[in-house]
Amino acid sequence: MASPVIIGSERSEAGLAQGMAILRQGGSALDAVEATLRLCEDNLADHYVGTGGLANARGEVELDASIMIGSTRAFAGVGAVKNYPNPISIARKVLELLPQHCLLVGEGAELFAHENGFAKAELSTPESLALFREALKPSENSVEGVRTLAAAGDEAYREKAIELVNRFLPHEGPWGTINVLALDEAGELVCGVSTSGYPWKYPGRVGDSALPGTGNYSDIRYGAAACTGRGELSMRALGARTVVDGLARGLDPTEACLEMLREASALPDAFRAELRTLCLTPDGRHGAAAGQATATYSVMTATSTEVEIHPRTQL
Ligand code: GLY
Repeated sequence: MASPVIIGSERSEAGLAQGMAILRQGGSALDAVEATLRLCEDNLADHYVGTGGLANARGEVELDASIMIGSTRAFAGVGAVKNYPNPISIARKVLELLPQHCLLVGEGAELFAHENGFAKAELSTPESLALFREALKPSENSVEGVRTLAAAGDEAYREKAIELVNRFLPHEGPWGTINVLALDEAGELVCGVSTSGYPWKYPGRVGDSALPGTGNYSDIRYGAAACTGRGELSMRALGARTVVDGLARGLDPTEACLEMLREASALPDAFRAELRTLCLTPDGRHGAAAGQATATYSVMTATSTEVEIHPRTQL
């Protein structure tokens, strides 16, 4: 019997104790990860996931999430979901009811949520709208109510987007997507990720959080890993899978995380380039790394009395 462990990225503290309570009662890692992330998605003070998440370039909140089971490598993700506050639960439903597919996006994901009884909700809050308005004050040539200037690929939009995103520098304190990784008594290793994605993103942009091997990966033989931050870097470097490959080659968890970040940070990227990662092995070892010196991750073991905040190793 394995000793349960649950770890998460910054701000997973909103749900981690609930996840550990499930594991301590002999519950599954799948239930623990989903319950933890739902609480994070419902945390209105958090502007990077669920309700209150930061909007796309048109002011609409679009959510990505995914879940992966280590023993089977079954994976389900949803991308660019509007109007449904708990994408992690929609992803889990896809895993259970639609095993012929790994990913649903946009209208299809929303149709699936509707058909399976998920309730719609307003995802913007006064605070998240104020952040959007402040960050994206219309420029002289923007059309009232329309925040993107032209069709995808248009040079004018691209220049504008670079300018806008560069203005949104990482602020002090915890930010970004939430990752939750859990090992249960039965030895199952599950990884879940939820996000509102890149702030002010082009509508329809789906990031690494919805995709296997990039933002989320779990393989019971070696470990599970997940990423936070600049999703396009994780997509180009196959972030989570690369960390798990490092574990498979015998690297310790921290070194596996650092090795992936070294590779990702060497990629040319005109945008803000911070990427973070963390991992958990089937025998309960864990590690995390980041570019920022103050970055942390959160841990609970079977004996923890509260969430423990650990420093990430700096790249
Ligand atoms: N890592 C989350 C995103 O880029 O959407």
